[in-house]
Amino acid sequence: ARVDKGGHKHFMAKEIAEQPVAIDRALRAYLGSEDGRQLPEDLDFTTVDRLTMVACGTGYYACLVAKYWFEQIAKMPVEVDVASEFRYREPPVSPNTMGLFVSQSGETADTLAALRYMEGKAAQIVGLVNVQESSIARESDVVLPLHAGPEISVASTKAFTCQLVILLMMALKAAQQRGHPLPDGLPEDLRALPGLIHQCLSLDAQIKDAARDLAKAQDIIFLGRGVLYPLALEGALKLKELSYIHAEGYASGELKHGPIALIDEKVPVVVMAPRDALFEKTVSNMQEVMARGGKVILVTDAEGARVAGDGTHEIITMPQVPDALAPILYAVPAQQIAYYTAIAKGTDVDQPRNLAKSVTVE
Ligand code: G6P
Repeated sequence: ARVDKGGHKHFMAKEIAEQPVAIDRALRAYLGSEDGRQLPEDLDFTTVDRLTMVACGTGYYACLVAKYWFEQIAKMPVEVDVASEFRYREPPVSPNTMGLFVSQSGETADTLAALRYMEGKAAQIVGLVNVQESSIARESDVVLPLHAGPEISVASTKAFTCQLVILLMMALKAAQQRGHPLPDGLPEDLRALPGLIHQCLSLDAQIKDAARDLAKAQDIIFLGRGVLYPLALEGALKLKELSYIHAEGYASGELKHGPIALIDEKVPVVVMAPRDALFEKTVSNMQEVMARGGKVILVTDAEGARVAGDGTHEIITMPQVPDALAPILYAVPAQQIAYYTAIAKGTDVDQPRNLAKSVTVE
């Protein structure tokens, strides 16, 4: 069937708005609901001594988030790389390595080549793909479909959040199989995600305001720490892809090792900081930015806004969420910032110049 924009101006807007439904589908497929469906039984982490995750673009950032989860929750050694590097750097692979390949299309040439490299080393191959009839799905030992539904816009949105949700469920399963306690409230809290994402969608009025300012900038920096660091990378990637404004994502702790030299009143800084254990540290990095005249757009929760909102240029107030779920929720403002900045600039949101949805050549 032909997919249409369902009344939205762009496929991207439609796909952002579909996230509560898409995530609900992914949860139902794997969380073990009334119908008993759950993660595939042959997804077995018990004898895995190393998890290697490989992807390109936005999928790579999903892997970077998942690295924190697999390490912290399942206590597994994790390696993450972009496929174009992994495939040529001749990494040693033990037979007890699990190779996890994350790809919306299932056809990205570099990711497929990386998969074949690992397969040649007798590692267990797991594919997390949106398109079920794809090369990566066919060549994986275990396939997990994303259930995001067709994604048309070049910039990935609902596939990214579905990747995150499923990767978190996988980390929880790994923890269980390896005898580690699950974080408080999980996996039950996952069921609240569709509703929470829905709440985030209504923040778009605030984000439109911020975007009008961002559209005037030449450079924009995104900062995050811990599990929000990859979200800073993703926010910057989306923004540069869609609006053609130069954007860089940085780990907040690295600010003083370089990017702080760029800060003046013309460089807006988007700070992704839920009130988690690392909040105070991120806030002190944010204050270093403000002390140099930098305009801060703080994405945080109500408590974060209350304690650290002073002096910021704009605050986007997110719902309160358990720490592990924050990167899934903060993906929404990252997407909307890019979307509305592109609208303010008048660029082609669904088909940004020079980019392709699926890169099937090297
Ligand atoms: C292209 C797309 C991105 C995507 C990346 C990886 O660059 O424009 O949106 O994240 O490829 O694609 P994949 O299908 O492997 O997830």
